[in-house]
Amino acid sequence: MSAAHLPANHPFQPLFDKMAADEVISSLTAYDYPTARLLDEAGIDLILVGDSLGMVFAGLDDTTGVTMQHMLYHTEVVARGIKNALLVADLPYHSYQSVEDAVHNAQRLMQAGAHAVKLEGGTTQLDKVEALTRQGIPMVGHIGMLPQRVKEEGGYKKKGKTQHDADRLLRSAQDLEKAGAGAIVLESMLAEVATRITQEINIPTIGIGAGNECDGQIRVIHDLVGAYPWFRPPFAKTYADFAGDMSKAAQSFIEEIK
Ligand code: KIV
Repeated sequence: MSAAHLPANHPFQPLFDKMAADEVISSLTAYDYPTARLLDEAGIDLILVGDSLGMVFAGLDDTTGVTMQHMLYHTEVVARGIKNALLVADLPYHSYQSVEDAVHNAQRLMQAGAHAVKLEGGTTQLDKVEALTRQGIPMVGHIGMLPQRVKEEGGYKKKGKTQHDADRLLRSAQDLEKAGAGAIVLESMLAEVATRITQEINIPTIGIGAGNECDGQIRVIHDLVGAYPWFRPPFAKTYADFAGDMSKAAQSFIEEIK
């Protein structure tokens, strides 16, 4: 897909416009109404109801315990807070094992208020991406480190370190574009690999832990505002100390009512 081939009023048009103007696409996760509304009012381009909610919202060890029920609920509440941003919702682990499941569950997320869905994986997921495209469901790909595979992969490991892996990532991105993805998240890969992918494809790349040369950047909101102090990925810059402020507020309250 390219800007020239987007149907009229396609929800990804603003992302392509930014890419054409050489402006960086801004993207953050949100899982609740006030956060979504604040980010939307701040002018963020894309809000992702990420399955990272399993960790930073629900306290699970990883994202593999997130279900469609969780995603539908959080998509619904986030949608209520958004007027302008593109709202993308993650298809959670095991919700797109077959083409039929991918289409059915993507339709449910769209009914809950998403403008597009995201699923993890490249070349191995093309049948699902093509099916979503045929059904007119806008979708975002996600390659590099795939959090839903953290158990199989034995941890959160940076990708693209060998020529073979870098070539595989580029091929995945090209295949996703051909299959109809409207944008691709590049997670945790060498910056030069993300740069090469960004140069070689015509749809926006949105990076996290993938250097500064992607068309956009995405972060988990809890990392951005310091709301989850127990774990923070090395690439996550923190702009506020919500955890510290909340602890101080609670201690002040406890002191005051003594
Ligand atoms: O679930 C999520 O928050 C994500 C981002 C890290 C891209 O997929």
